[in-house]
Amino acid sequence: MAPKLIPASSVYLRLLAYARPYLGVFVLAVLAMALEAVSQAALAYLIRPMLDDGFVNRDPATLKLLPWAIVAIFLLRGLGAFGSAFGLAWIGRRVVKALRRDLFDQYLYLPASFYDRSSAGHLLSKLTYNVEQVAEACTQVITIIVRDGLTVLFMVALMFSINWQLTLFMMLVVPLIALLVTFLSKVFRRYSGHIQTNVGEVTRVAEEVIAGQRVVKIFNGQTAETQVFEVVNERNRGLHMKLARVQAGSVPVSQMLMAFGMAGIVYVATLETLQVSVGEFGSFLSAVLLMMAPVKRLTSVNVNLQRGIAAAESIFAVLDEEREPDVGERPLGRARGDIEFRNLVFGYSADKGNVLRCINLRVDAGETVAIVGASGSGKTTLVSLLARFYEPQQGAVLLDGTDVREYRLADLRRQVSLVSQDVVLFNTSIAANIAYAESGDVRPEDIAEAAASANLAEFIASLPAGLETRIGDRGVLLSGGQRQRVAIARALLKDAPVLILDEATSALDSHTEALIQDALDRLLRNRTTLVVAHRLSTVERADRIVVLEQGRIVETGTHRELLARSGRYAQLYRLQFRDQPGQ
Ligand SMILES: Nc1ncnc2c1ncn2[C@@H]1O[C@H](COP(=O)(O)OP(=O)(O)O)[C@@H](O)[C@H]1O
Ligand SMILES: [Mg+2]
Repeated sequence: MAPKLIPASSVYLRLLAYARPYLGVFVLAVLAMALEAVSQAALAYLIRPMLDDGFVNRDPATLKLLPWAIVAIFLLRGLGAFGSAFGLAWIGRRVVKALRRDLFDQYLYLPASFYDRSSAGHLLSKLTYNVEQVAEACTQVITIIVRDGLTVLFMVALMFSINWQLTLFMMLVVPLIALLVTFLSKVFRRYSGHIQTNVGEVTRVAEEVIAGQRVVKIFNGQTAETQVFEVVNERNRGLHMKLARVQAGSVPVSQMLMAFGMAGIVYVATLETLQVSVGEFGSFLSAVLLMMAPVKRLTSVNVNLQRGIAAAESIFAVLDEEREPDVGERPLGRARGDIEFRNLVFGYSADKGNVLRCINLRVDAGETVAIVGASGSGKTTLVSLLARFYEPQQGAVLLDGTDVREYRLADLRRQVSLVSQDVVLFNTSIAANIAYAESGDVRPEDIAEAAASANLAEFIASLPAGLETRIGDRGVLLSGGQRQRVAIARALLKDAPVLILDEATSALDSHTEALIQDALDRLLRNRTTLVVAHRLSTVERADRIVVLEQGRIVETGTHRELLARSGRYAQLYRLQFRDQPGQ
């Protein structure tokens, strides 16, 4: 995902919008930078009276004033330095915060399809690394342009006031430097884009290894992972070296240009006709020397600028991604729970073909329908369309007789509880996980009741901090069955009219499943339920069973009817029966 080159000016403007509210502070920072630049010039200016009046003529008034003047200049310079650094940091941190807020907000609302084609590592490094890069680069660029630019300006003015012929001569080297800069800036912009993409790559590989450390271990995947990482790591080094080569080269080249200038100045200044005094020459030379560093920074300001732009571009690219469509306006309090899939056709992407082909299915309020079928037949896809994680290509999903697209998205999702195979838990307490995203007025008794209904009471009583026990990153401190029951408790508390169980019990052994079966029964009561399961017990109890095959419904009926038909379901049933002799 190399950032495409959009016009740099539009990136600046967008970034500026983030800084605009802080114009007042910015003006103060600019004034502070001007103070810094003026004091630099004053220092060079002071050399002339110091040499001519102080050392050559030994004028007592000047001798008395000079030490004070030096201290005063450095005091001003210090004030300026503090003001500019602090002021820009103040603005910079606010811009970082605002960019992070917008990016995080965007992550909350991007559609599932966006996450299907993005890697978590890249998305995380945008939030951490790229955002910092923007602020750092912009702060540096502003400092260089304003402070160093003003310094150079004041120095040149000073030089003109001392001797215009000498100054004009100096100016000859400037166009040469300018030419060099335009050439280098193009190169920099290209490399810094590459490097940022590659840093994301490094994070992605590392993150997969960290998240999947058990898989890596059991497959002895260390060598393979080492090799994969070596490739991205080496590429990162290589890219940095290319950048470093250009960067390192630009310094001596511009210094050589300066050296020629200096040599010329010494030659011209000592010509009889110009009559330059010791003090004047000292002042002039000091100005040239004090200008060197600012000029050097000015020639390389583009590195920072392009780095910032590349980082900003990659952030704006995410901010410009379209969010989940939410144009429905129909409010929905609590649905009855009639569901209908009507002529539904769906594929994840055009090139991969359709995953669901013309599904027609009605589920009445309160009914429990089991969906069975081989893995990959489209069960998860079908139920995820109900919560509008994806939009169908053709046909519609209806809730209470209305196309789900017509409801407000938040209203729609409030009607649906989802318990799936991989339970997602957050690194907080059990109570906070059960009451996830519920507004603050959930009563602790309700949480405890939901936990008890999910058969968690005994387990929670055994914990030192009870419901307030923290469960670790992604709930790793719980067993599969415990996690599953927390998820069920969460669904119970949400109390939505529609319930989706997507292989909610498949990670559990039969004993644990028996333990949560009555929790599930409680959950199913008075709700429309879609159960994706391969356990017979759950399926047999369903009011109706739907058999999916390659995205089509091939059979519908009760357990008995379908067995009697000896079709696809009977076949699946026999396979299951053989796999689970205990049941
Ligand atoms: N997020 C996704 N992006 C692209 N293809 C997907 C995605 N999720 C599932 N698929 C594909 O869609 C098909 C149906 O998958 P799924 O609904 O998960 O099946 P099931 O739940 O029945 O095992 C599979 O071929 C799978 O590869
Ligand atoms: Mg599935």
